[in-house]
Amino acid sequence: LHFIKQIKTRKATRFSMQIIFYIPEVNHPQQWLDALRAQLPQATLRYWQPGDTEPADYAIVWAPPLEMLQTRNELKAIFLLGAGADSIMQIAAQLPAGVPVVRIEDAGMGAQMAEYVSYAVLRYFRCFDDYARLQAERQWEWHRPQERHKKDFSVAVLGMGVLGTHIIAQLLQLGFPVNGWSRSPKQMDGVQSFSGSDGLRACLSQSQVVVCILPLTPETTGILNRDTLVQLPRGAYVINVARGKHLIENDLLELVQSGHIAGATLDVFQQEPLPPEHAFWLEPRITVTPHIAARSLIQLSTAQLGAKIRGMAAGIAPSGVVDFTKGY
Ligand code: NAP
Ligand code: GLV
Repeated sequence: LHFIKQIKTRKATRFSMQIIFYIPEVNHPQQWLDALRAQLPQATLRYWQPGDTEPADYAIVWAPPLEMLQTRNELKAIFLLGAGADSIMQIAAQLPAGVPVVRIEDAGMGAQMAEYVSYAVLRYFRCFDDYARLQAERQWEWHRPQERHKKDFSVAVLGMGVLGTHIIAQLLQLGFPVNGWSRSPKQMDGVQSFSGSDGLRACLSQSQVVVCILPLTPETTGILNRDTLVQLPRGAYVINVARGKHLIENDLLELVQSGHIAGATLDVFQQEPLPPEHAFWLEPRITVTPHIAARSLIQLSTAQLGAKIRGMAAGIAPSGVVDFTKGY
C-alpha cells in the first residue's frame, strides 16, 4: 500500500502543473488568481514573491520584476496579461533563451478599442467639442465650420493587427472611408492599404484623422512627429491609443497651437500617470484619458490563457507568440 501511495504521489508531482503569477498589487492580483484557478483547476498557481525560485512550468505576468524570470530556463512559456509586448521586449536579452512569450489577443479589447476610437472620430466629425464649449457659454448657435461629408472624411489607421482590424471594421460600419497602414501590405475589403515610409506619407496625406494602434518597437517609436503630422491635411485630428512613446508630444502641441492639427484624443503618454504640470491637461483641444482605451478583461483573458495553457499541455502551440526579431 505504501508503495502504491508513493507511485501516486510521484505521478501527481510529475503531472501537476506549476504556474507562477505576478501583476502589480494595484491591478487586483487576487481577482485574477481566482479566475485563473477556475480556468486551470489542475494547476498549482502561486503569486510570485521575491526569493521564490521553486520550479514552474508557466509564468503569467504583467510588468514583472526581472528577478522573477531571469534564470527560469525550465519555463515552457511566459504569458503576458496584455496585448503590448514592448515592456517585456525591453528585458528580452535577459530572459531565458528559447522560452516563448505569448500575448493576449483581443479577449474583448478589440470591441473596447473600436468603441473608443469611433466615439473620438464621431465627436470630431460632428463638432461635439465645439458644442460643449458653446454650452458652457450658454450660446445657442449653429456651428458650421465647413460642411463635412463622410465620403471626404477618411480615417488613417496605423496598425492593422488584432486591434486595428476591430477599429477598421467599426469605422467602415459607420461609413467612414479607411486608409490602413501596416508592415506587410494587406488586402481588406473596403480599405485602402499602405505600407513602408512612402505608403505612410500617402496614407496620411489622404486622411482627416489618424489613429495609432501600432506596437511600440524601435521602428515605430516617435512615429507621430512634426514631419509625419504635417503630412496630414490642415485641420486633421490625432488619436493615439497605442503607446505614449509613439508620439513626440511637443510636436503635437505646437501643431495644435499653430492650427495645423485641430485636436487630439490621447489615451497613452510618454510618462504615465501624466504629470499634473503637463500642458495637455489644460489644452482644450486635447482630450486625455488614463490608458483605459482597452483593458484586459479578467474573464475573457483568463479563459484565453486557460485554453492556451491546456493546449500547450496537449502539445498544441499557442497563437500570439511574440516575434523577438520584429519586436511585437
Ligand atoms: P498586433 O496584432 O501585433 O498588430 C500590430 C500591427 O502593427 C500589425 O498590423 C503590424 O503589421 C503593424 N506594424 C508593426 N510594426 C510596424 C511598422 N514598423 N510599420 C508598419 N506597421 C507596423 O497588435 P495589437 O494586438 O493590434 O495591439 C497593438 C498595440 O496596441 C499593442 O502593441 C499595445 O501597445 C496597444 N494597446 C493599447 C491599449 C490601450 O489601452 N491603450 C490596450 C491594448 C493594446 P503586420 O500586420 O504587417 O505585422
Ligand atoms: C495595454 O496597454 C495592453 O498592451 O494590453
